[in-house]
Amino acid sequence: MSETITFTWKDRTIELPVVEGTEGEKAIDISKLRKETGLITMDPGFVNTGCCKSAITFMDGERGILRYRGYPIEQLAEESSFREVAYLLINGELPTRKQITRFSVLLNDHSLVHEDMRQFFGSFPMQSHPMGILSSMVNALKSFYPYLAGTREEINTTVTRLISKVRTLAAMSYKISKGHTVVYPRPDLSYCENFLNMMFDSPVRPYKMDHDVVNALSVFLILHADHEQNCSTSAVRIVGSGRVNLYASISAGIAALWGPLHGGANQAVIEMLEKIDRRELTINDAVKKSKDKNDPFRLMGFGHRVYKTYDPRAKIMKKVCDRLLDKLHINDPLLDIAQTLEDIALNDDYFISHNLYPNVDFYSGIVLRAIGIPTNMFTVMFAIGRLPGWIAQWKESMEDPEWKLNRPRQIYTGPVKRDYIPLENR
Ligand code: SDX
Repeated sequence: MSETITFTWKDRTIELPVVEGTEGEKAIDISKLRKETGLITMDPGFVNTGCCKSAITFMDGERGILRYRGYPIEQLAEESSFREVAYLLINGELPTRKQITRFSVLLNDHSLVHEDMRQFFGSFPMQSHPMGILSSMVNALKSFYPYLAGTREEINTTVTRLISKVRTLAAMSYKISKGHTVVYPRPDLSYCENFLNMMFDSPVRPYKMDHDVVNALSVFLILHADHEQNCSTSAVRIVGSGRVNLYASISAGIAALWGPLHGGANQAVIEMLEKIDRRELTINDAVKKSKDKNDPFRLMGFGHRVYKTYDPRAKIMKKVCDRLLDKLHINDPLLDIAQTLEDIALNDDYFISHNLYPNVDFYSGIVLRAIGIPTNMFTVMFAIGRLPGWIAQWKESMEDPEWKLNRPRQIYTGPVKRDYIPLENR
């Protein structure tokens, strides 16, 4: 017998069912609240509101737990590859050898983009931000590949096409922005190797693949692959709920990810660290300003809506960072600044009392700098990583019998009824 809660409002008393998940999370199902009491709920930012049941990712913000389809992020980061994790998130199970081989063949077959898309890049102003370009280009894919979803096989082809092409679009955008020759994907390279080669290879200076760099990129993408109902995933679900095609729904997710409070934080962290490095801001002033209620400055890369302890991804990212910089013999002053900021914050009452810890973005930018990714592409890298998660969530919502057009309600606080005043009388 499932639990219920008793809700009494004036002369009405109703029983509301309690929904329980496989990890013991519980929610009050208020589907009949308005019909039976005339009341709606208010929850700015949806801090306490669940929008769906999902079998994809489990997070425990108090204990710092993150699992994709039940597998702990620590094990996936250590043992798996981004290609395999993308398959896991979308299909629900780790692939067999035959399945991952088929997936790799499809990724390769769909790695090129229509040659006409190259002209699009040339039409963007030179200083266009790569996130705006990526969002536009992903949306444009619908025009070049109009037949999206019918049979399961067709949906899988569409999904794999997008996961493969997003790399090519991102690397193309970078090469064209620098006026360099576009490098095409190669059938002999893995998912991450191909991206690095398309980004950094050149006819006059062949790119030298470094296994540790490839592995660091794969772990970076695994750590970003999904995170349940975050802002950009919610955007993908909300847009998709209108039965919008996958490309447009993902394009909305890319737009939602762009902001500095969400995926744009990795770029904002580096810009903050560089300001400190240029002595335009001291570490102590950064900490002081971030605690000042009247100052909009925030310690970027710190804090999280769900994690009230150390973000498990940040712990892994820090290890990747230390290992990669050591292997490449890079001594990045920004790492020392980041480490000092963390040490101060983790011992400061304000941060402790507010449960503010480093999140996935705090060290990720230093890893991307070591790989050679330009700062304005950091959030594009986040989007490439998050794409399998967005797709998995979009698919799950499309297949959910309870899923309907998302349309929140409101409490109106504007003027009450009043009559129109003709212009001559105003
Ligand atoms: C991502 O949701 C996800 O899962 C997102 C993500 C994913 O994988 O999809 O994990 C990726 O977006 C990570 C977050 C990246 N953003 C940043 O690093 C930007 C800096 N962080 C903050 O802006 C903030 O922590 C948020 C936006 C991430 C979360 O903030 P909330 O949950 O909306 O909380 P809040 O802004 O209401 O802050 C609560 C309190 C406030 O103080 P009080 O008014 O209660 O006294 O904490 C303070 C805030 O002032 N606070 C900070 C702070 N973050 C929160 N103070 C200083 N520095 C900070 N970074």
